[in-house]
Amino acid sequence: MGQGSADLDNLLSDEAVNRPEAFYARLRAIDPVYWNRRWNGWILTGYDDVAEGFRNHQNLSSDRFAGPFGEDLSAVSSDYQQLFGFLSKFFVWKDQPYHTRVRSLVNKAFTPRSVEVLRPRVRTLVRDLLAPLRAGSEVDFLAGFAFTLPVIVIGDYLGVPQEGRDNLRQWAEDLGSVIFVSGNDEDRMRKGDDAMGQLADFLRPVIRDRRADPRDDLLSGMVRAQDRGDFLSEDELIANTILMVFAGHETTMNLLANGIVAFSRFPEQWAKLRGDRALAATATEEILRYDGPIRAMARWAREPMRIGRHDVAVGDRVLLVQHAANHDPARFTDPDSVDITRWPNRHTTFGQGIHTCLGAPLARLEAQEAFSALAEAFPRFDISEDTLAYVPNIVSRSLRSLHVTFGEQ
Ligand code: HEM
Repeated sequence: MGQGSADLDNLLSDEAVNRPEAFYARLRAIDPVYWNRRWNGWILTGYDDVAEGFRNHQNLSSDRFAGPFGEDLSAVSSDYQQLFGFLSKFFVWKDQPYHTRVRSLVNKAFTPRSVEVLRPRVRTLVRDLLAPLRAGSEVDFLAGFAFTLPVIVIGDYLGVPQEGRDNLRQWAEDLGSVIFVSGNDEDRMRKGDDAMGQLADFLRPVIRDRRADPRDDLLSGMVRAQDRGDFLSEDELIANTILMVFAGHETTMNLLANGIVAFSRFPEQWAKLRGDRALAATATEEILRYDGPIRAMARWAREPMRIGRHDVAVGDRVLLVQHAANHDPARFTDPDSVDITRWPNRHTTFGQGIHTCLGAPLARLEAQEAFSALAEAFPRFDISEDTLAYVPNIVSRSLRSLHVTFGEQ
């Protein structure tokens, strides 16, 4: 099949998965509001449409258990009650007023100022995790570094006991394959259901313990708020704790890994960061823009509306493609290059509006500390993968593996 005729309706094609800039640029050139017959919805690739889509929570619903997404699930949800019982309580997938009720319980703990107190701890942790990378031998960057950092940080902050953390990766993987991959194959659903059940069994006694014996952690804070009357049922509390653990680690892991790949393509930017590590904050924003860990988020139309030249009907699906918006030349100069001094850099990677990523300040802090310490320690590094392969899904931008050799000179 020639380059120009590749199937633009296939969001899981080799090009869409592995070279999304190229794929979405072609789509945007045809129509920035493109009807995809296979996904059965609108694909938005222009910056302004994507940003407005995030802000327009009145017309565009996040509710995965109503509208067209709810219809897709209704056939399977009763077979996997653990899984869907908890997923349906995640506030990210709800509209107001439930969304506001839960988010307002945890908002304060995630402001930039609140998470800033974690910086010294994150800095120490990064240094500890970097120590084994120093040998000059090849390391599995995902498992050895990028995964461990966010799990420890969010685990500590929430107050998730150490014992369960070893299982988190498997649980996260099993849940991720339900959340990020479309289709309802039975094995995946069963594994996701089991993982959710085990996570809930692990967290339930912890929450009860915090009620009896509060500590200085976020779980205790949520229990306290609940006891004050900002009522959340125990299952709602468990579900949204799982959301916070899960939303934070896969994404942050992928941000660190995608950053290493980006810097390998633009080594002069690595040298620049190494020369001036005060650039870690803008460098982090640029990695978030250039190759953020989330490709796209879905919505559906609650109200009839017009997007671009098109009438969008009630019940239509709408995909807000952040990766494409972040590479829209109408918004960003030279969008396919990395410039760690780029500013302003109002990318869409954390979304916008009422659902803007709760953990953005935490993810930023971790990435700033990690990139800064890596650049300080290693003048250069080599990626040992022959070809970089990304997990084929529509939502996340995750490498299958990333082996790297860090050099000292
Ligand atoms: C680089 C890392 C991260 C990226 C790219 C990312 C991205 C996003 C995006 C795009 C949304 C909006 C979803 C929507 O509009 O439908 C979101 C929401 C959310 N994120 Fe993150 N996230 C990251 C890290 C984290 C971390 C560290 C946490 C830890 C608490 C977290 C927790 C959440 C939660 C709880 C929501 C739901 C917010 C709401 O619906 O009001 N995220 N994230």
